[in-house]
Amino acid sequence: MTLTLLGLESSCDDTAAALVRRDAAGAGTVLSSVVQGQASLHAAFGGVVPEIAARAHAERLDHCVEQALDEAGLRLAGVDGIAVTSGPGLIGGVLSGVMCARGLAAATGLPLIGVNHLAGHALTPRLTDALAFPYMMLLVSGGHCQILIVHGPERFERLGGTIDDAPGEAFDKAARLLGLGQPGGPAIEAAARSGDPGRYPLPRPLLDRPGCDMSFSGLKTAILRARDRIVAAEGGLPRQAQADLAASFQAAVRDVLVEKTRRAMDVYLDLRPAAPALAVAGGVAANGAIREGLRALCDETVRFAAPPLALCTDNAAMIAFAGAERMAAGAPAGTDLTARPRWPL
Ligand code: KG4
Ligand code: ZN
Repeated sequence: MTLTLLGLESSCDDTAAALVRRDAAGAGTVLSSVVQGQASLHAAFGGVVPEIAARAHAERLDHCVEQALDEAGLRLAGVDGIAVTSGPGLIGGVLSGVMCARGLAAATGLPLIGVNHLAGHALTPRLTDALAFPYMMLLVSGGHCQILIVHGPERFERLGGTIDDAPGEAFDKAARLLGLGQPGGPAIEAAARSGDPGRYPLPRPLLDRPGCDMSFSGLKTAILRARDRIVAAEGGLPRQAQADLAASFQAAVRDVLVEKTRRAMDVYLDLRPAAPALAVAGGVAANGAIREGLRALCDETVRFAAPPLALCTDNAAMIAFAGAERMAAGAPAGTDLTARPRWPL
């Protein structure tokens, strides 16, 4: 059965609505995807302010839904269901989305499906690259860091993840320490282009330990110490030293992510998957050096799938598609869904 779903996303600092169609064979098409970021609302505070985020979501969701319907050339009457992020995330934002979705479901009688935000990210390669289960997923963003085997729309096996900061968070903090702009990931990547990653070597946390868990908070301390040493010796942070530290930081994060993913792939390949594949998602997957390091783990027998950036970062198309996957698998719909700040996969 072909399903067309409206998706809503409001768990962090992007307000988003999208329409996605999933055909009977499981292939997905994005009919529209509207994302309204809130970076400018939070810029002065050095991080996302939950109350400001929740208020902005509540004010903007209706408009995002209207725009998504317009761009898809659809009305709610032409939709088969509504999917909404019901966690994990900032609870005020999640609640804004859930209340909006409940209202739409009550007014239309459409089935309502709660979607785990992480499941949305993890199922995106089914939408963009038609990957078959089981596939491997490295989910790396400002808030998340997980290595998963995705067995089905509701079955995720976690092989490892960060024990402290997410890698995107580490990129953002490192950029602040180096006097680079926000978001830190793209700023560090740009600065690293003219830097020497070997000039100020940084540690590779937890690489000497078995398993797939990672740690990034020590890197932040290491970069702070290296910067302070340079500033003490030079009376400031010269442009070249800034670029060298950025390159060194990026190489350290890349090495940790690539090596831990390589270990996880051994576990995954032992399952003898019919169509083996490694997929990446999350904002950090935009990083060219990290992407190339992960791509190099794949070969003609293991496919590498990196969804387009707009679907890698927070969006509602992934929520609509995950909702369609769950509906197609027979998941129950209902208006009694609750908003959950914490909700591990
Ligand atoms: O997935 P995302 O848009 O939002 C969530 O965190 O959910 O990810 C944003 C994170 C930020 O921390 C940002 O610095 C990081 O992804 N990021 C990057 C790059 N582009 C964005 N990190 C490294 N290299 C990049 N090119
Ligand atoms: Zn996310």
